[in-house]
Amino acid sequence: MFNKNKFGLDFGTSNSRISGLNKGILLDEPSVVAISVDDNSVIAIGYEAKEMLGKTPEGIISKNPIKGGAIANYKISELMIKHFLSKVSKSKFLSGSEVVASISSGLTSVEKRAIYEAIVNSGAKKVYLMPESLLTAIGCNLPIGTSSGNMVINIGGGTAEFAIISLNGIVISDAIRIGGDYINESIINFLKKNRGIVIGNQMAENIKLNIGSALPLTSPLEMEIKGRDSITGMPKAVNIDTNIVVEAIKSPLNLIIQTTRQILEKTPPELSSDIIDRGILLSGGTSLLRNIDVLLSRAIGIPVYVNDNTLFNVSEGAAEAIKYIEALSKNIKNPL
Ligand SMILES: Nc1ncnc2c1ncn2[C@@H]1O[C@H](COP(=O)(O)OP(=O)(O)OP(=O)(O)O)[C@@H](O)[C@H]1O
Ligand SMILES: [Mg+2]
Repeated sequence: MFNKNKFGLDFGTSNSRISGLNKGILLDEPSVVAISVDDNSVIAIGYEAKEMLGKTPEGIISKNPIKGGAIANYKISELMIKHFLSKVSKSKFLSGSEVVASISSGLTSVEKRAIYEAIVNSGAKKVYLMPESLLTAIGCNLPIGTSSGNMVINIGGGTAEFAIISLNGIVISDAIRIGGDYINESIINFLKKNRGIVIGNQMAENIKLNIGSALPLTSPLEMEIKGRDSITGMPKAVNIDTNIVVEAIKSPLNLIIQTTRQILEKTPPELSSDIIDRGILLSGGTSLLRNIDVLLSRAIGIPVYVNDNTLFNVSEGAAEAIKYIEALSKNIKNPL
């Protein structure tokens, strides 16, 4: 098969990934762009720009143009998308290629159009937008073409996507703008209120990755954190442990549990029984939070499992979906 110009695209809130059909991951970079304040010119994109986050010299701002799974800054997003696409396509941008791109099911038609046009303007011949949760299921090889019910939850940086999938289509879905970014904000707010320390996003991210957990640990992990005193503004360091983080992130995790329950309540009984038997697939970067699968499984009473390739399921699923475009046609969400 001629696969040279067939790509799966996942331009997420935190990370951008591109897979080639039968070629695996071709690109995996942070969705970050550094811009000069003086003339709005782009200084760096991807890894290089992420290095600048939070410590950019005066006159340079570093932006994440895809906030909450949507395109917050159209022009900058388009530049970023074109830059990433030009890295994987030897010819000029995507010229003549066929792509499936992931979108959050909560996007407005204006946001969908922005993503669609950025890709079309990069030269793609055929562009199909499809929901992230469906592509997650394909990337994880769930039997979505059968009449059995499959439940997928993808929790990324900006959004959590929920879907029940059967007979190649989404039966019920929902999306909430809760993900790793919101979890970091919860850590920042909690520590300011309860420990009198103001920390930045990068410190919150380190806390989450190093000692974070969705459930208390019998031997909590400890960490020294640095920031500013919330009253005096002077530098301050305090020791915290896992169980403080558990407390800090309870509220966003409860929203995820609540949405999972609402979806299951609306699920037709014949599909629910499949989900009870097969369990719920949890994917996306935030599924790597310690014990999030155990928390969800205890709260819902259904097994929850995390796929090995959790960061790449979506772009891999998107590339794979190109092979089955006809069977999946009812899932195409292109703007009219
Ligand atoms: N080990 C980990 N523990 C907790 N969170 C993690 C871990 N590894 C990554 N994350 C979080 O996963 C998020 C990124 O996940 P992912 O790459 O799936 O997001 P995305 O696809 O860019 O976002 P979205 O789909 O919401 O637009 C970040 O918020 C990051 O902090
Ligand atoms: Mg994602």
